Amino acid sequence: MRRILIAGNWKMHLNVQQSSLLVHRLSERIKTHNDIEVVLSPSLVSLQPMSLEIDRRKFRLAAQNAYLKDEGAYTGEVSFTMLKELVHYVIIGHSERRIYFCESLETVRDKVAAAFRNGLTPILCIGENKEEREDGMTKQVLHDQIVTALYNLTAEEVAKVVIAYEPVWAISTFGGELAKPAQIETAIKFIRHQIAQLYGQRVADEVRVLYGGSVDDQTARGYLEIPGCDGALIGGASINYMKFSGIVDAAYRMLREGTKE
Ligand code: 13P
Repeated sequence: MRRILIAGNWKMHLNVQQSSLLVHRLSERIKTHNDIEVVLSPSLVSLQPMSLEIDRRKFRLAAQNAYLKDEGAYTGEVSFTMLKELVHYVIIGHSERRIYFCESLETVRDKVAAAFRNGLTPILCIGENKEEREDGMTKQVLHDQIVTALYNLTAEEVAKVVIAYEPVWAISTFGGELAKPAQIETAIKFIRHQIAQLYGQRVADEVRVLYGGSVDDQTARGYLEIPGCDGALIGGASINYMKFSGIVDAAYRMLREGTKE
């Protein structure tokens, strides 16, 4: 069975001290569960102190970004090589990076390759914007993002990638429309179908696909129960310890009550 993954993308919020306080509170509230993996993605400056503070049985860390080269004269950048002792995952291709920092399909592809070169697991974000959905382009957009991002990987590597389906229109930054579970189910099915076509059914069955877009403690269970959905990548609600631990609780209850297909 694929393990449920609940990941908090703290974006550009919380300084080192505030991050430390949040981890402390989350640690008190969140219980370990073998079938649920909880991942925290603070800002770059908080990663190092947090890597020393966290209970590694409870949490894993993710970076929100890294540069595609391993070393060199790239002022202001941090490489995957520099992060590999600190984190397990790196978020790649988030729509805020694609849109605000003009990250192209090829940049995302090179970052995914850099993550594997350094033994890190990408959380690859993909998703269409509102216009693309309204123009019936959703499948084409997802197809292009998947094909390019995974281009340099072996099937074994693809099986380890975590894909976060984050429709841009559902992310609070870009509108935060509440997506219907049926819409998410269709997209997740399509993502797995694409992976099956490119890398075979076994890889498609192994790859974890998350939903990411305005999930909170009230809506989490409805999204987590979507067939084929292996967890959530959470933005705003992840910096509120009641909401984030409530989302982990929702996953816990879903597994205990056996309502996940
Ligand atoms: P919100 O949960 O704030 O809508 O953000 C989702 C997101 O971007 C997760 O990466």
